[in-house]
Amino acid sequence: MSDDDRMGYFLDLYAHLPRCGPGDDAHTLRALERVGSLPLHARILDIGCGPGAQTSALAQATDARLIAVDNLAIMLERLRHRAGDEGWSDRVSPVLADMGDLPFVGAAFDLIWSEGALYNIGFRHGLASLKSYLKPGGYAVVSEVVWLRNDPPEVLKSFWTAYPEIDSVEHKWQIIHQVGYDAVADFVLPAAVWESSYYGPLRRRLAQVEARWMGNVSAEDVLNEARLELSMFDQFSDFYSYAYFVMRLR
Ligand SMILES: C[S@@+](CC[C@H](N)C(=O)[O-])C[C@H]1O[C@@H](n2cnc3c(N)ncnc32)[C@H](O)[C@@H]1O
Repeated sequence: MSDDDRMGYFLDLYAHLPRCGPGDDAHTLRALERVGSLPLHARILDIGCGPGAQTSALAQATDARLIAVDNLAIMLERLRHRAGDEGWSDRVSPVLADMGDLPFVGAAFDLIWSEGALYNIGFRHGLASLKSYLKPGGYAVVSEVVWLRNDPPEVLKSFWTAYPEIDSVEHKWQIIHQVGYDAVADFVLPAAVWESSYYGPLRRRLAQVEARWMGNVSAEDVLNEARLELSMFDQFSDFYSYAYFVMRLR
């Protein structure tokens, strides 16, 4: 099985979903509300923007200029389409870049946003590196997977070791403080939103491709990984979720 083959099936399964992780406009806007009033024509940096679900909510709730970063061209293409359909193309600049090596200079942003993506360069490292791009007193909003209980079963713990940044809300806040931000707010995404926004569409996409992909080793590998993730959620959704962290540069 080649990595290219696997990536092809991975993108075929995930890249056409409405979003690339659980979340919805209501929770994006709930976090935005805690940021308070932004300056006129504020600059918002959306890191790991995916197909632009949260970018869209931010664009429609503000008059901000949005800079949306992802390292997959297909995601930015979908974001461009969404922006065109919804009428905010003139306020967004899609940037194909690695979040660990951003092509920006200086403290240019009033708000940095990252839903379900910062773990790709490490939560602590990511927060620390983003500080240099935030204007003094600027805000950051980050969502990451957290444990809701401290007694997860072994099978679930070992599943999530593949996602190295899962942690308690308390420990995430400790890291945030150590890196140099003050706490503003946190809240947890309800399990029902995982299903409605992400796993529901994923289950429907699986049903479309399963029969066609049967017998192909790379494709079945991708399918099995998705099925395992869904089965963990079906059994144990009360043990973990995404938490949103709203913070302000100290
Ligand atoms: C779980 S998805 C979340 C996407 C979006 N925020 C959402 O909630 O729908 C993570 C996104 O981060 C992007 N990504 C992963 N590693 C990255 C990196 N090193 N630099 C930039 N983007 C990255 C992926 O391509 C993907 O679109």
